[in-house]
Amino acid sequence: MRIGILTSGGDCPGINATIRGVCKTAINHYGMEVIGIHSGFQGLLTKDVESFTDKSLSGLLNLGGTMLGTSREKPFKKHGVVSDVDKPALIEKNVKELGLDCIVCIGGNGTQKTAAKLAARGLNIVSVPKTIDNDTWGTELTFGFTSAIDVATKCIDDIHTTASSHGRVFVIEIMGHKVGWIPLYAGVAGGADVILIPEIPYDMDNVIKTIEHRMETGSRFTIVAVAEGAISKEDAALSKKEYKKKLAERTSPSIVYDIAKEIEAKTGRETRVAIPGHTQRGGQPDAQDRIFATQCGVEAALGCLRGEFGYMIALRDGKMCHMPLEEVAGKLKFVDPQSDLVREAKALGISFGDE
Ligand code: F6P
Repeated sequence: MRIGILTSGGDCPGINATIRGVCKTAINHYGMEVIGIHSGFQGLLTKDVESFTDKSLSGLLNLGGTMLGTSREKPFKKHGVVSDVDKPALIEKNVKELGLDCIVCIGGNGTQKTAAKLAARGLNIVSVPKTIDNDTWGTELTFGFTSAIDVATKCIDDIHTTASSHGRVFVIEIMGHKVGWIPLYAGVAGGADVILIPEIPYDMDNVIKTIEHRMETGSRFTIVAVAEGAISKEDAALSKKEYKKKLAERTSPSIVYDIAKEIEAKTGRETRVAIPGHTQRGGQPDAQDRIFATQCGVEAALGCLRGEFGYMIALRDGKMCHMPLEEVAGKLKFVDPQSDLVREAKALGISFGDE
C-alpha cells in the first residue's frame, strides 16, 4: 500500500509528530510506502512529492511547523496555483499517476471540508485535526492548541510585570478570529482581568466598569485578553453584510487598537497594545501536543492499513475514534458561554464584558 500525506492550512506545533507517527507505523511496522506531498493540496495539483524513508523521520517529534510545507490552496475554489482546469479532476488523475492508494490530510476546518469533498468523489481519505484554534468540530482537542496556550500565557505573564511597574492597562490580542478557545484558556492561565471572545459579545461600558473598579480598589494595572474576532454587543446585532462593511471601513489594524483607545479615553489610564501574533503558532510542540499528534498519526496509518476511509481521527470522551467527514465538514466548535471554565472564570472575578 502507498499512502500519500499532506498538511494544509495554517501550520501548528505537532504536525511533524503526526507525520512521524504515520510513517513509523506504516513503514516500520507494516512495510507500507509513504509519499510526502508538498504544500498541501497544491502539491497534489503539481505532483510535488517526496518519498519517505525511515531515515527522514529523525528529529521530527519535537520540531515545530511542517516539514512538508503548507498552503491555503482550495481545490474546489477557482483561484489558486493552477487555473482554467478542473482541479478536483486533476487531483484524481495525479493520485492515480502517483500510485497513491489513500491520502492522509492533516489540517483544520478548511482541510476537513476539502477532504470530505474529495472523499465524496471516491478518493480514499483519512484526515487528522490540527489547528491552534481548537475549533474543529467533532473532536475534543486539536493538536497545536496546548502549545499555543503556553505561548499566549507566557505573553500575558510577561506583560504583567511591565503593566504593574507602569500602572498601565494592556490590551493583548490573542489568536482566534471565529472562536475564543486560546484567549479563554490563556486568559485564565495568565490571570487576565478581562477576556473578550467572539462567543460572548461585550459591552465596552462593562469593560470600563471592571477597569475603574480595579483602579478604585488599589490595583495598579489591568490586563485585557482579546480574541482577534472579539465582537461588541452592538456589532453582534448587525447583519453579516453590515458587519463585513463595518470591518472593511475600519481604519485601525484590528479591534484591539479600538478597544485600547476607548479604554484610555474613558478611564484616563495609559493603555498599550501587545500582540504575540504568529509566535502562538510557532516553536516546538509541548508534550501534550506531541502525544496527541503522535496518536493521530498512528491511528491514521492503522486506518489506512485496515482500508477504513472517509473519516477524521478524533478525541471524544477521552478516547480516540473516527468521525465521518461528511459530519465534520463545514462546522465549527465554539466555546460554550455556559461552560464550566467560563462560569468559574466569572466566579473568580474575570469579566467577559457581557455583564
Ligand atoms: O487558524 C489558525 C490561525 O492562526 C488563526 O488563529 C489566525 O486567525 C489565522 O490562522 C492567521 O492566519 P494567517 O497565518 O494566514 O495570517
